[in-house]
Amino acid sequence: MSSTLRAKKVLLGITGGIAAYKAAELCRLFIKAGARVQVVMSAGAQEFITPLTLQALSGEPVRHALLDAEAEAGMGHIELAKWAELVVVAPASANFLAKVNAGMADDLLTTLLLATEAPIYIAPAMNQAMWANPVTQRNLSELDLTLGTRLTLLPPDSGEQACGDIGPGRLMEPVDIVANVEASFVRGLHAQTKGTQVLAGKHVLLTAGPTQESIDPVRYISNHSSGKMGFALAEEFYAAGARVTVIAGPVALNCGSYITRVDVLTADEMLRAAYAGLADGIDIFVGAAAVADYRPANTEPQKIKKNSQAQAMSIELVENPDVLASMAKQGNKAVTMVGFAAETKNVVPYARAKLEKKNLDMIVANDVSAEDIGFNSDDNAVTIVTANKEMVLAKQSKQAIAKLIVAEVAILHNNKG
Ligand code: PMT
Repeated sequence: MSSTLRAKKVLLGITGGIAAYKAAELCRLFIKAGARVQVVMSAGAQEFITPLTLQALSGEPVRHALLDAEAEAGMGHIELAKWAELVVVAPASANFLAKVNAGMADDLLTTLLLATEAPIYIAPAMNQAMWANPVTQRNLSELDLTLGTRLTLLPPDSGEQACGDIGPGRLMEPVDIVANVEASFVRGLHAQTKGTQVLAGKHVLLTAGPTQESIDPVRYISNHSSGKMGFALAEEFYAAGARVTVIAGPVALNCGSYITRVDVLTADEMLRAAYAGLADGIDIFVGAAAVADYRPANTEPQKIKKNSQAQAMSIELVENPDVLASMAKQGNKAVTMVGFAAETKNVVPYARAKLEKKNLDMIVANDVSAEDIGFNSDDNAVTIVTANKEMVLAKQSKQAIAKLIVAEVAILHNNKG
């Protein structure tokens, strides 16, 4: 799964304060996440870090003057405000907060804040006494009025400050700023397109990817699952407001840091992680993983040598635990249980049989005989099967399929009451 920030247009505002040096790392992290970054610096920021540093990291000329004929000839400040898909101001000084709260537009950054319609993230940083000052606190509490629901405040950390004081006012760590921006951007997008977060406050536990069952230190039994379907679901459950834990088999995918990820190799490990999730309290369980049904009865401690005399060899297999069925047996009735069924023929009837046998609320029938859907492809086509309903979802991206599945799971879960 790619970062939520891939190809997103980020306007990074930097104001004056010792924490301005951390904006360089922040810029680098946004670029690493695949975002396009344009940097705007206040006059104060340039006293702490040079525009050249930010230009080298962002790959774009840094903007600082409001009335700069040369820069305006390229992308005018209003165009820049419209270009931004999100605005991040880090560090935001006490002076900057006061100016924004007063609706002032006396430099490029404050002007952009008034002109943009994009979500705005503000990460203040200042001396602890300045932070505690009632005027700063009033400015912060009133920022909502000025910037509305588009504002997300990224509060400062507490600790030792550059001036030697100890207390709140340290800029949130750049890695945490990016994680917060990613997380609230996923939900912000969802809120704009769907209006509500239908699974707010729910905990979703899901499995994704294959399992790997060792034969010896060199070889294993596994399958073609890439984890794409499961990770797309994790993101869409998160976007719907849920807290999400994904138990991932060995896959080459990243997920946003707003998703709790537990990596496992084998079916046994997956089962243990699922039970741990259950003990943590869950509302919905989704088995999207392709769990190996069997594993070698014995894992050889040394590499099995080729026997040149033998034309064939056999490996004794024993049955693996069924993670989904075990969870359905353990979970209480309030937990909504969702499975997938990977089939190559009689797809929907076989899926329905699994729905009943494993005691599930829903199963997603997945035809894995076609090469352009199912295992490892970016697209999928499935049928959602419940006790009294079948819903065909035609071929589309796994992300789009995941969004539709999540919507159906939410209806089913919320109707359980
Ligand atoms: O990962 P991708 O490349 O994106 O591909 C997606 C997918 C094809 C893997 C996915 O959409 C899918 O179909 N996952 C289920 C694969 C599977 O194992 O299906 P099954 O019919 O064998 O199992 C039925 C259900 O029982 C599944 O929810 C499975 O997770 C679960 N199961 C099966 C065996 C087992 N030992 N433990 C289980 O939990």
